[in-house]
Amino acid sequence: MAMSKVLLALCKCILLVGLTKATYSKMNEQTVNVIDYSMKNLTSMPIFQQNSTTDINLRGNLLQVVPALSFQQSKKLKSLDLSMNKLNLIERGAFAGLTELIYLSLRDNKLTSNSLHVGIFQDLISLQDLNIHLNFFSYEYTLILQSEISHLKSLVRLGIDLRGQLQINKCFCKLSELQDLELVGLRRYSDNLFQNLKCLKIEILSLDSVVFLAPDTFICFPTLKTLRIRIVYRFATYDTISSIFNSFKVFKGKNMTEISIYNNPHRNGFVLGHRHFAVLQEICLQKIKFDG
Ligand SMILES: *[C@@H]1O[C@H](CO)[C@@H](O)[C@H](O)[C@H]1NC(C)=O
Ligand SMILES: *[C@@H]1O[C@H](CO)[C@@H](O)[C@H](O)[C@H]1NC(C)=O
Ligand SMILES: *[C@@H]1O[C@H](CO)[C@@H](O)[C@H](O)[C@H]1NC(C)=O
Repeated sequence: MAMSKVLLALCKCILLVGLTKATYSKMNEQTVNVIDYSMKNLTSMPIFQQNSTTDINLRGNLLQVVPALSFQQSKKLKSLDLSMNKLNLIERGAFAGLTELIYLSLRDNKLTSNSLHVGIFQDLISLQDLNIHLNFFSYEYTLILQSEISHLKSLVRLGIDLRGQLQINKCFCKLSELQDLELVGLRRYSDNLFQNLKCLKIEILSLDSVVFLAPDTFICFPTLKTLRIRIVYRFATYDTISSIFNSFKVFKGKNMTEISIYNNPHRNGFVLGHRHFAVLQEICLQKIKFDG
């Protein structure tokens, strides 16, 4: 029984190395720097040997672990997509040496409080775009995670889970380049949730799973240009839509690029001429999108 398991594992390894080699030899001729292993049902990390690879796409596999030094040879890596796997462990030093990495997606995995080590992002000094939302981090842990993320000084875009958070930590003020924030997991937004983000110049804000927005939810975003709100249809209450429109009052007299609302739960919520819309007449808006 045990033996057959070992054999099976061994076969898988050989298969992977074989696969890797085949792709590389083809790549050498074409000098392609992109490795696309997306949607291949991979259960363990392939071995990446080529040192000129700039993009590795492992999206939609069955990976559970990112072993230490997985990308040791890939010093030129710019983009690494590990989204939609089953990741529950990222070993210490997994991203070591990736000083040129710009894009990292760990979105939609099974990462928990025990999955990451302190300093996990330490070498990612060029990282501009981090997606780590749709994971299983606990409320306590998202504070530690925020502190780890706050060391990524070049970050421009961030997707992160918020669970039961009262406020976003002020360590985010270190992210002076951050412009685009996507938040998932919180349903009810309070007036002071974003209080500590006044220090930033956020231009694009996406809120997923909204049920209620307090009137001054957006008061700390004076530079906001684009706002995207996705309602959780299942939990929407009678005042969901009116709370959303009420929160737009802080934009009166401002120039904005886009306001979008997805998953409207009420059939008549978006009827033109509804009193909700009055507030929009006072915002100089280029694009409105209401879906539902
Ligand atoms: C991955 O596994 C699923 C389910 O077993 C199967 O339907 C699919 O064809 C597999 N894909 C590949 C690329 O092997
Ligand atoms: C990459 O590998 C090739 C051949 O193995 C070697 O000649 C080259 O110096 C390496 N480049 C870097 C940047 O390490
Ligand atoms: C909005 O844009 C218009 C036209 O570009 C400009 O004249 C106006 O000063 C802007 N208003 C604000 C508040 O930025």
